[in-house]
Amino acid sequence: MTIAAVLTAAGSGTRLGLDVPKAVVAVAGAPLVVHAARALLAARASDGSGVAQLVVTAPAALLDEVAALLGEVVDAAATDVRLDVVGGGRTRQESVAAGLAELVDDVDVVLVHDAARPFAPPELVARVVDAVHAGHAAVVPGLPVVDTVKRVAAGDGTGRPVVTTVPRADLVAVQTPQGFDRAVLERAHAVGSGLGAHEATAASDDAGLVEAAGVTVWVVPGDERAAKVTTARDLHVAQALRTTEAR
Ligand code: CTP
Ligand code: MG
Repeated sequence: MTIAAVLTAAGSGTRLGLDVPKAVVAVAGAPLVVHAARALLAARASDGSGVAQLVVTAPAALLDEVAALLGEVVDAAATDVRLDVVGGGRTRQESVAAGLAELVDDVDVVLVHDAARPFAPPELVARVVDAVHAGHAAVVPGLPVVDTVKRVAAGDGTGRPVVTTVPRADLVAVQTPQGFDRAVLERAHAVGSGLGAHEATAASDDAGLVEAAGVTVWVVPGDERAAKVTTARDLHVAQALRTTEAR
């Protein structure tokens, strides 16, 4: 089986609030997109296979910069990896679709991973690939939800009324990398493409599109280290954890 990874890095990082796109913000000595790419390329499935093609979606203004950064990562990985850097779309869903369009013919397993999860460890990547190799067409890492979760209705300006408390035992918080049979993922993106152009209607993850297409998505254990960097606080936490783990 030939594995490709689509690494999404084309977002602007509005909630992070810095003056450069989130993927090129440095933490622990390297940009987020570099950390994420290193982990993808370091991963080995149980059968020894690794990522053979890496497609990175980047902001249009940073195509050359991201290509140079990732070129170094691929060279350092000392494996024969094909690298493609493409401009992203208006939404994450459109960016993934742009990445899928770059896949070479012999790819049959696709990982989709967010540069915003820079410290997802290689063993998590391998766990997802192994589950796809075992026959699941769509696989996501998930962690138990620790907070109590309630469904709420529209508010009156002072707050929002609770409709129900959702049983937590049945819930998982889903991460990336997500792994797919290529044909299943491409079909799901084709079916869902009409809603993908606007943030309000675009799928927030690829598994959501696959579910909507009627294919069962499987959850494997996630990893706390794959936490998402969304806000300035998340960036501080990631930096602090890297500093302590490096000791
Ligand atoms: N992403 C992308 N193309 C987009 C939007 C997002 O490739 N049009 C990527 C981001 O670069 C990120 C991942 O999708 O790696 C998850 O998105 P998110 O965390 O929301 O990042 P941003 O969209 O950059 O941040 P924000 O929503 O705060 O602007
Ligand atoms: Mg976003």
